[in-house]
Amino acid sequence: MQLLDGKATSAQLKAEIAEKVAEIKAANGKVPHLAAVIVGDDGGSHTYVNNKVRTCEQLGFESTLITLPEECTEEELLQKVDELNKNDDIDGFIVQVPLPAHIDEDKVTEAINPDKDVDGFHPQNLGRMMLGLPTYISATPNGILELLKRNGITTSGKHCVVVGRSNIVGTPMSILMSRNAEPGNCTVTMVHSRTQNMQEICASADILIVAIGKPEFIKADMVKEGAVVIDVGTTRVPDASKPKGFALKGDVDFEDVKDKCSFITPVPGGVGPMTIASLMQNTLLAVERKANR
Ligand code: GUN
Repeated sequence: MQLLDGKATSAQLKAEIAEKVAEIKAANGKVPHLAAVIVGDDGGSHTYVNNKVRTCEQLGFESTLITLPEECTEEELLQKVDELNKNDDIDGFIVQVPLPAHIDEDKVTEAINPDKDVDGFHPQNLGRMMLGLPTYISATPNGILELLKRNGITTSGKHCVVVGRSNIVGTPMSILMSRNAEPGNCTVTMVHSRTQNMQEICASADILIVAIGKPEFIKADMVKEGAVVIDVGTTRVPDASKPKGFALKGDVDFEDVKDKCSFITPVPGGVGPMTIASLMQNTLLAVERKANR
């Protein structure tokens, strides 16, 4: 078994991005500017967003963090989105999800200017991704593609099973893995909560990508000998022995399956750092596209 080290791979990618940022800055004095909006107090979401802001600083980006209270109305959030759409200094922005239940997530996503939608969540960008047209590919799926590519994992002709059908990971991932591209060219099966023979299908995967948010759901009997296993899950599980009182658990029972895999992503240190690096890559792309408009 070899670890697919997202920390090391994202460090390569981030170094390349930082170099391009320095070039842009030397050429015209401007640096990419990413804004992030977070609503409410969810600890996990704050950790992700703080990591995104910290990475901006490391790579020479400008960043703006907008924190809104849990009670913020949909109207107030839409107002903020409108301001960010109109602010010429901001190249791209994200609204961290999940949002509080009283806010319609789809309405907020659709209000984001697709040119600034560096999350790639807007229907226009998702539609373009589906058609293979130039767009922003959502950070987690794109980070996984980059991780596979940079670690020399061939995907063509392989059976890829995607566990989970979320709009931000499972659904785009299944489309990207089936595209006529490298990485891609897989035969893809998507499984979800209503799938009847989950164990059997997962155990037939050459590449198993799991994004369901259920800690340690995938056990050894669901993994084929020699499979590549990508674990997108990061659930906080109470653990009194940890300084913060919780441990981060993936959707894969790492200890149970590790000896069966050819490659596996650890949690933390696998998909997470790749997601952040991909968001930075999309923000850089936003700057390049703006210059060519
Ligand atoms: N919540 C979990 N992952 C993401 C992400 O990639 N972007 C946003 N905006 N929210 C998320």
